[in-house]
Amino acid sequence: MTEERRVRVLFDEAAIARRNEEIATAIAQTQPKNLLVVAILKGSFMFAADLMRALHRAGVQPQVEFMHLSSYREGTTSSGQVTILKDVESDVRDRDVVIVDDILESGRTLAFAKDLLTARGARVITCCLLEKPGHRAVGLNADLVGFTCPDLFVVGYGMDVAHSYRQLPFIGVVET
Ligand code: IMP
Ligand code: MG
Repeated sequence: MTEERRVRVLFDEAAIARRNEEIATAIAQTQPKNLLVVAILKGSFMFAADLMRALHRAGVQPQVEFMHLSSYREGTTSSGQVTILKDVESDVRDRDVVIVDDILESGRTLAFAKDLLTARGARVITCCLLEKPGHRAVGLNADLVGFTCPDLFVVGYGMDVAHSYRQLPFIGVVET
């Protein structure tokens, strides 16, 4: 067990919960048909779980699938290569699909997932919890963004550094 370092809060539980309701309302307003939420593992699992419940409250009945993509090894820099570790199991053809990811940084992960599901015939909406401006390597913006994130390595609410801190109910920065 590594000792837990202090984490400075950037976005607290209440702010995240409020934003999730707004995002769910925006998705509901598109009047999706046969909606499928595709959560990109691992970082979006907590966001996707809360968004599913917020969608229910907004009157939508989404199904959920998981796609495990990896562009990161241990550490904090992107390898630039996206690989599929686990694919979705459902047919996405002619479905409204919301791809849910944790952070939009270079954009490679989200672009990869969007291209793949679009090529399979899905109508894709992209949704990221956080967006870090200034690092984009591909010309892609998410349709829905939770918060603009300062240029810091963040953890919590599903996001990790070297597999730790995913359990935190808020988003923060590990103090050095
Ligand atoms: P992209 O493919 O460069 O847009 O990278 C997005 C992915 O990098 C996210 O899904 C995260 O898994 C990871 N990532 C980028 N920045 C951070 C961070 O500050 N904390 C944790 N993970 C991050
Ligand atoms: Mg990720």
